[in-house]
Amino acid sequence: MTERKPSDSEHDLVDLARRVLPAGGFGNMAQEVIIASGRGGRVWDVSGNEYIDYLLGSGPMLVGHAHPEVVAAVEEQVRKGTTFFTNNEHGIRLAAEIVDAVPCADKVRFVSSGSEADLYALRLARAFKRRDKILKFEGGYHGMSDYGLMSLAPKRVGNFPRPIPDSAGIPKSVQDEVLVAPFNDLATVESILREHHDEIAAIIVEPFQRLIAPQPGFLAGLRRLTEEYGILLIFDEVVTGFRFAYGGAQKYYGVVPDICTLGKTIGGGFPLAAIAGRADIMAHFDKAAVAADDFLMQIGTLSGNPVAAAAGLKTLEILRRPGAYESIFATGRALMEGFDKILQTAGIKARVVGDAPMFDLVFSERPVNDYRSAIGDQDAMKRLNGLLRQRRILKGEGKYYVSLAHTAEDVRFTLDAFASAIATFVRT
Ligand SMILES: Cc1ncc(COP(=O)(O)O)c(C=O)c1O
Repeated sequence: MTERKPSDSEHDLVDLARRVLPAGGFGNMAQEVIIASGRGGRVWDVSGNEYIDYLLGSGPMLVGHAHPEVVAAVEEQVRKGTTFFTNNEHGIRLAAEIVDAVPCADKVRFVSSGSEADLYALRLARAFKRRDKILKFEGGYHGMSDYGLMSLAPKRVGNFPRPIPDSAGIPKSVQDEVLVAPFNDLATVESILREHHDEIAAIIVEPFQRLIAPQPGFLAGLRRLTEEYGILLIFDEVVTGFRFAYGGAQKYYGVVPDICTLGKTIGGGFPLAAIAGRADIMAHFDKAAVAADDFLMQIGTLSGNPVAAAAGLKTLEILRRPGAYESIFATGRALMEGFDKILQTAGIKARVVGDAPMFDLVFSERPVNDYRSAIGDQDAMKRLNGLLRQRRILKGEGKYYVSLAHTAEDVRFTLDAFASAIATFVRT
């Protein structure tokens, strides 16, 4: 197995990044790898090292990098102009495709990032219900807004439902507007609703929270409780949308929220995200449809960008083809099962957690069903990720994303690299 070798010019770029970027990076990933190109399920760094890529741009590249049909669709639009601020045909057709495919989507509003989509979804729920509070789950990721950054990754254990801010610079008052419950714990949700239901506009949830599957009945229970108490249910499908099934986790699990947010896959690798939901709720984006005080102002220079929409539309077309999801799931299952076997043989106290399109290890033997039980040994995780990177497996700190482009050969290479990394991990 050839290990990654960084070149002098890559070292120079890393040094330059340290000089001009805070923490030497864009805030996203380990800074020592600088990726120059990608094709299918592989990427190459500026030194020419090839990796099997399970980062997938943090999820958007579900059909693989530089898919020839996506590239052609994008090139065609780029030649005609890249942004107009008016309606454009690709954006309208992408919205129509989302309405056809996503059960909760009567109407769609485009924005440029998942963070923005979540921010507006929460504001939309507040406008519709005329209430201020939001209930979210500990460890649930809903972007970088003041509201999203409540108990996303708390370093200390707080008492439910009081949130812990994840960032400096968030006004103290925001803490009073967010309530937090443990994922997969309907009893706690119900007790919070009993006390606060007339102040709560919505529950926002990742239907599959990071790597944690919803326990049977959890999402349906949230649906029942929100209906009972007259509260909106928002699914954050920025990750799960069109990844778990065509139409998203709401199709996969058969529970339909009032509003959902979408991102990543629907932009085909370009900045595009969306809020989608019931027509009477989405009407708040329409000045003519609601009273002046109920109108939700929302404007974005690049919203519905035609290049991004062309990439998204083509990506969805590829995903609609027979066998696409079967292939993604088969690849993911082969990796999960392979990792599990290697861990067991090596006697390592870790488990493979997640579902076929996205999963990772948790260095812990406890069952994983909420944020606290999913934490595991972070140092061990970092060390293994470093060993894998050396062996030319690129992944996020806490996730493997599987694409339609990963091949049986990629799976074999990955399992060999994983076995080699684990052997070194055990020895050192
Ligand atoms: C569930 C979820 N919601 C929202 C976001 C934010 O999306 P973006 O990075 O496009 O702002 C992410 C990003 O990873 C996410 O995983």
